[in-house]
Amino acid sequence: MKKSKSGYIGFKESRKIVKYNKQQIRYYERLKKRKHIPREEYLATMKNEDNVVEFDDLHTYFFTDTGTVKAVNGVSFDIPAHSTVGVVGESGCGKSVTSLSLLRLVQAPQGQIVSGSIRYKTKDGDCYDITKLPQDMMEKISGKEISMIFQEPMTSLNPVFTIGYQLDEVSLLHIEGATKESAREKSIEMLKLVGIANAEGVYKSYPHELSGGMRQRVMIAMALCCQPNLIIADEPTTALDVTIQAQILDLLRELKDKLDSSIMLITHDLGVIAEMADYVVVMYAGKVIEAGNVFEIFDNPSHPYTIGLLKSKPVINKKVDELYCIKGRVPSAVDLPDYCYFRDRCDMCTSACAGSYPEFVQLSPTHKVACHLYESKVLK
Ligand SMILES: Nc1ncnc2c1ncn2[C@@H]1O[C@H](COP(=O)(O)OP(=O)(O)OP(=O)(O)O)[C@@H](O)[C@H]1O
Ligand code: SF4
Ligand SMILES: [Mg+2]
Repeated sequence: MKKSKSGYIGFKESRKIVKYNKQQIRYYERLKKRKHIPREEYLATMKNEDNVVEFDDLHTYFFTDTGTVKAVNGVSFDIPAHSTVGVVGESGCGKSVTSLSLLRLVQAPQGQIVSGSIRYKTKDGDCYDITKLPQDMMEKISGKEISMIFQEPMTSLNPVFTIGYQLDEVSLLHIEGATKESAREKSIEMLKLVGIANAEGVYKSYPHELSGGMRQRVMIAMALCCQPNLIIADEPTTALDVTIQAQILDLLRELKDKLDSSIMLITHDLGVIAEMADYVVVMYAGKVIEAGNVFEIFDNPSHPYTIGLLKSKPVINKKVDELYCIKGRVPSAVDLPDYCYFRDRCDMCTSACAGSYPEFVQLSPTHKVACHLYESKVLK
């Protein structure tokens, strides 16, 4: 994208962007609105039958007036059944957009999944490519099979309806043959399951009458109402204080085991990851830069960015004059370079880093890293 010397986009350039955006949006919206999509088009085969979700080279872009924001730019990772996968990375690196792509909730029309696939294995054992699934089938899956716990319970709950009304709605929408009475019973059972003592009272309350921790418990109850296969928790404890945080995390872990679900846990907090996750995915500027099981990432962090992230975590009993921080800024998602996106901030950079973007190097069957430093250590 050409900018003037002052950094502003000129009129001609701006018109070009608007024209390009219109074309792209029209193309992807038309694809989505197609009727009678043949089943073969969205049927897929899992790479590994033990996975619930496989992100494969996913690209999700936003066509904005300042250019194309490559929010998710070739993301691939798996979520194995019955496990917790933690996704970490700096603000704006594409964690939420990756999870929203999985539920096909990316803000349209400017936000579009432009390429790649998201294979999902349903409770019945069918495998679908979510990116190609017809909208009516997607509605059956989201909420029932894949559910999401949002960061801010106050903005996710509707302030003008009671908790009971909003909980009942989930059962009435997703559970076949549900009646008003059975939905009410289910809602109260779920409120008790998430540790709310006065379930009947909370059922009749409005969101503003509850504390932050209670509201987050209600969100969890709502997400678990249909016993989902996969729970996406996007910063589920960021808005809560430390004690409530610990309670909510314990609750999530306990319910995951009870319901035999998997969790995709998005967080900034490495402590939460260490406690909850079986696998860790580290993202940077719309790409996965390192992935491995929790021991590999914490005991043997390999990418300079992961090393920096772990170094910047304060340690109890260790006195330091200044906390470590990774200098510099993430490159703009509109103007990404051809070389390693971390190069301008990396203090381990070598001459090889001037070349193209690094490919993944497999350090162990579960540990992979995208960095030129490891190219001679490819797993044979
Ligand atoms: N609706 C939108 N329109 C334009 N750009 C967007 C939109 N939503 C997200 N983006 C851009 O996509 C990129 C990734 O955003 P995302 O919300 O996934 O970040 P994140 O990793 O979840 O950050 P955080 O930790 O702050 O929640 C950012 O550069 C953001 O500005
Ligand atoms: S490829 Fe080079 S610049 Fe990029 S993280 Fe590795 S060492 Fe640093
Ligand atoms: Mg986010």
